[in-house]
Amino acid sequence: MPDDAHLHLRDEAYLGAVLPHTLERFGRAVVMPNLDPPLTTVRRVLDYRNRILGHTPAGASFVPWMTLYLHAGTEPRDIFLCAQEPSIVGAKLYPQGVTTGAQSKVSDPLRLLPVFEAMAQSRLPLLIHAEDPNPLTDPFEREARFIETVLTPLCARLPDLKIVFEHVTTRLGVEFVRAQAPRMAATITVHHLLFDRRALFAGGLHPHLYCLPIPKSEADRQALIEAATSGESCFFLGTDSAPHARAHKECACSAAGIYSAHAAIELYAEVFEATGRLERLESFASRFGAEFYGWPLNKGSITLERNPWRVPEHYAFAGEELVPLRAGSMVPWRLVTREIGT
Ligand code: NCD
Ligand code: ZN
Repeated sequence: MPDDAHLHLRDEAYLGAVLPHTLERFGRAVVMPNLDPPLTTVRRVLDYRNRILGHTPAGASFVPWMTLYLHAGTEPRDIFLCAQEPSIVGAKLYPQGVTTGAQSKVSDPLRLLPVFEAMAQSRLPLLIHAEDPNPLTDPFEREARFIETVLTPLCARLPDLKIVFEHVTTRLGVEFVRAQAPRMAATITVHHLLFDRRALFAGGLHPHLYCLPIPKSEADRQALIEAATSGESCFFLGTDSAPHARAHKECACSAAGIYSAHAAIELYAEVFEATGRLERLESFASRFGAEFYGWPLNKGSITLERNPWRVPEHYAFAGEELVPLRAGSMVPWRLVTREIGT
């Protein structure tokens, strides 16, 4: 049974609409805190966890692992409170303005050093959206710039801080994570494995392929495929499935985010199969994330078969429509069972 180490579930009726897709495929998920308002206190995080559990049928055997939203006002004592909560597994940093819901007011992450010191001390991992927030920085250069200006000094300063480099998108990022492992690991999304930036512009602009970090070059994508299928434990599955209603994608200023929870593990299987390394999917999806976070492996299992199916054009999304990745097209792998095990 796999885990999704990076997931957006939203809230209320939207949460109810998307959660079943994750429940069918995953044993646990690391749930992102970029709600509106963001989950900046332990109280808010735990209330949100209860709302997720409220949408989880009894017997589903699903565990939401929660995260705190770091912002300019976060203090070390917030971290020490988190560290006492077994259901909170990390704190997420969104530098100001880098993506959907990044209202953290953190434009210079190194100013949060006392907070990061508290995290290192309490062994609470830092989950990081690794993009330079300077609006003048080219969107395709943001990851590289962030490595240079923030991650390199931060890693040198706090060797005991565990860091998850979320949704790595570049060769440079992959190499940086390798060099920092095992104190650092990275999640890799399925959409960054499936296409590069050319797909966004092929024959016109494709808002449903727009996400952040923006997909990079084909050479970068090849580096991600090589990392994900390498069998190295510092790379593991995190979908970054990020639902937005159709009206917020098909408009003059499209929201960033791709919805992939409906076929996540099936699409990863497609990528691993194409490289001839299908046997490495299990450790990428079910082992390495758990080992990094220090969880026992899931007891259950899922079964996929090679039996193509067509993705719906859209899913219901609380009175609106949600256009999923690969809408209207075929996925070669199909989920057949999820057994919770004992
Ligand atoms: C995410 C969202 O919509 O919440 N969007 C995205 O493009 N990935 C936020 C994030 O993880 O960057
Ligand atoms: Zn995300």
